Amino acid sequence: MAFTKEFTWGGATAANQYEGGYDEGGKGLNAVDVLTNGSATEPRKVTWKKPNGETGATPLVWGKDFKLPEGAVPTLLDGYYYPSHQGTDFYHHYKEDIKYMADMGFDVFRLSMNWSRILPNGDDEKPNEEGLAFYDKVFDECAKYGIQPLVTLSHYETPLSLITRFGGWKDRRLIDAFVHYSDIVMNHYKGKVRYWLTFNEINAMDMAPYMGGGLIDGSEQNRAQGAHNQFVASAKVVKLAHEIDPNNRVGQMLAYSAYYPYTCDPKDQIKVMEVKQDMLFYSDVQTGGHYPEYRLKKYERDGIKLDDTPEDYELIAKYPADFLSFSCYTSNVLTTHEAEAKASGNVSAGGVKNPYLESNAWGWATDPDVLRIALNDLWDRYHKPLWVVENGLGSADTLEKDSKVHDDYRINYLRSQIKSMRDAVTIDGVDLMGYTTWSAIDLVSNGTGEMKKRYGFVYVDRDDRGNGSLKRYPKDSFYWYKKVISSNGEDL
Ligand code: BG6
Repeated sequence: MAFTKEFTWGGATAANQYEGGYDEGGKGLNAVDVLTNGSATEPRKVTWKKPNGETGATPLVWGKDFKLPEGAVPTLLDGYYYPSHQGTDFYHHYKEDIKYMADMGFDVFRLSMNWSRILPNGDDEKPNEEGLAFYDKVFDECAKYGIQPLVTLSHYETPLSLITRFGGWKDRRLIDAFVHYSDIVMNHYKGKVRYWLTFNEINAMDMAPYMGGGLIDGSEQNRAQGAHNQFVASAKVVKLAHEIDPNNRVGQMLAYSAYYPYTCDPKDQIKVMEVKQDMLFYSDVQTGGHYPEYRLKKYERDGIKLDDTPEDYELIAKYPADFLSFSCYTSNVLTTHEAEAKASGNVSAGGVKNPYLESNAWGWATDPDVLRIALNDLWDRYHKPLWVVENGLGSADTLEKDSKVHDDYRINYLRSQIKSMRDAVTIDGVDLMGYTTWSAIDLVSNGTGEMKKRYGFVYVDRDDRGNGSLKRYPKDSFYWYKKVISSNGEDL
């Protein structure tokens, strides 16, 4: 048998894409609540207001180029559609959805907790009891079926008030707010939750600073400080979690992509090395416990100065993450020979297309070997237990007249991924804790805000404008995954 009997199977979600109930039960707004819908070609936008009353909407773009106009703060505006407000309404469907998960045989359900449901302003002294009660009901429902929750403390859900008052994670006050929030929930759910993740895809700080850090100015200085503050917060939360309950395990969550050089020109390999450094910097610090030299040199070259203390580095070294979890969907190809790639027709929206792989409608390549590569890369570097907490295929599924969804393309994708993961365990001896697919039930796409980019085993009747009954329909992949789980990954 490839996977041990301790290996855990399940699915993953995030509050800002799934939960809904955005203004119910005393919840405050978060960063994503003021994000409009978008599409494969149209970016999502942050809506904002200036003190002089001027309003507008700024497209979310990658990295340092994202910046709201001077003095603007994110806010809700009339006339825009905000998909997070309803998500796919887990808030009112949690019993039904957890039952579906139990029917598939889930050991683990990964969900994020909406920080502003617990602390509406992010740093309130006392928690919102109604918010705590909601997750109590969710965890009790999971317990009924023997499902372990894996809780992400912050999956792009920085409370809006911390953004408007402090400018997001660039401010050290966010460290205390996050530790305070973690303290409340780890004490309150002691015995109900033992697996925690601090920040979803912590390297989103560089790729999507508004999502990752609630930054309304994504300058390199702010991103560097935001990352540093999250590293310190993570170390403090690891320490706290162990003190509250020695059974607690706190993981890092990294967005991992494999990168391949397009040609055998060493310059292409150097490019791959540098892009990988940008990604692995985050795990070198949060899981490895120290700032790597390549990043310190970069900060020196770019004139970046951190607001830090010697104690920060002691904490980071002493309290690294207990395990390293990651999302992984695809691989990317890099080159210094763009013209050559173009001439061969190997271009895609994301850069160079891998001529050996198929891509989905959003340009994401289906790579049957990517998980083996990812798992080996991370295992060799850290020798810490690993957990694949996001992997899946986004697709525009069709609900047939007979209420069925024939998503054989999703089954084929997931089959190839599980085989790759199995190779990493059986051939390479990687220590792998489990697998939670993205997602469990259909939810809103994070990147585009669309509903039509679906990932779940259960179809939810809702469209890109929020119309639909929210009724649930198990897809063909639902029955397939159930079989995979009951055979512990043998029957694919
Ligand atoms: C990960 C995020 O980056 O990818 C999820 O953690 C997201 O929140 C998932 O939904 C898939 O991306 P998308 O843009 O297709 O929803």
